[in-house]
Amino acid sequence: MSTIAQTLTIDHLSKRFGKVHAVRDLSFTVEPGRVTGFLGPNGSGKTTTLRCLLGLVRPSDGTASIGGQPYRDLDHPGRVVGAALEASGFHPGRTARGHLRVIADALDLPKTRVDEVLGLVGLEDAAGRKAGGFSLGMRQRLSLAAALVGDPGILILDEPANGLDPEGIAWLRGLLRGLAREGRTVLVSSHVLSEVQQTVDDVVIISKGALVRAGSLADLAGNGAVRVRVRSPRRDALIRALEVPGEGPPPTVLEPSDDGELLVTGLTASDIGRRAFLAGVELHELTQQTNDLESLFLELTATGTPGGTA
Ligand SMILES: Nc1ncnc2c1ncn2[C@@H]1O[C@H](COP(=O)(O)OP(=O)(O)O)[C@@H](O)[C@H]1O
Ligand SMILES: [Mg+2]
Repeated sequence: MSTIAQTLTIDHLSKRFGKVHAVRDLSFTVEPGRVTGFLGPNGSGKTTTLRCLLGLVRPSDGTASIGGQPYRDLDHPGRVVGAALEASGFHPGRTARGHLRVIADALDLPKTRVDEVLGLVGLEDAAGRKAGGFSLGMRQRLSLAAALVGDPGILILDEPANGLDPEGIAWLRGLLRGLAREGRTVLVSSHVLSEVQQTVDDVVIISKGALVRAGSLADLAGNGAVRVRVRSPRRDALIRALEVPGEGPPPTVLEPSDDGELLVTGLTASDIGRRAFLAGVELHELTQQTNDLESLFLELTATGTPGGTA
């Protein structure tokens, strides 16, 4: 693994294709030792941004750099950065092993490295088969193997979970988390948050080419406040019981229906149960509503605030 700085920096990046403004004044950083999800709906500019990082597209404005340098200035790019971009073409008549050998040769690496990466992605048994007959999931594994050949400290993967079944997604999660644990920088794009939700530490969310949010997944989850549904035959008494003065900020209580139901944010289910118990208020339901990150993601990217950094 290379020891050069492994931070990826996107700085006021813009890219126009004629009238299409694919990326708009986008800035964010990607740190080593973490898996970062680069998220946005189809057409939001993810692939274009990654192509700018890899020197395949020239920015209209701003920069995309790797350890402070543009890709083209890296001394041994194939050993510094491993990339798997969307629809990366394989020669259909070439075997998986043959394809990886071409890459290993170009990087001056021994043939044994090819078998190592075939093992890493679980393609040992298909090594001698032609890539043209591979399923989408197998092609994803082969792209990943190709990205890993040079043992790079930085991995840039465009929609790697696309076409994988749930088992494949779980396998990918283990692999990517392991690579990050070794101190590598791992950037994965996806148009479906739920595909990578259990894999990523950080998220960068874009919509229509502009940043909507960047930060840890934990912060994003915290922003979609957890709600607890409570029902009691004595709803008014329950509301009074929940508002204990001097015990932190007051909870928010919504009263969505007339059958004694309340939706509470700002208190955990156990807080609510304890306060109701102390006040002698009978409860008929106490349910923590699942924190639906996918809905939050859809909300954020639908209303995308161009240029916003909230
Ligand atoms: N080479 C290109 N020429 C013209 N338009 C392009 C080109 N590449 C991407 N686009 C447009 O830029 C926008 C962003 O595309 P893309 O970066 O592929 O988004 P994503 O990867 O998030 O789906 C889309 O409107 C797409 O049609
Ligand atoms: Mg794309």
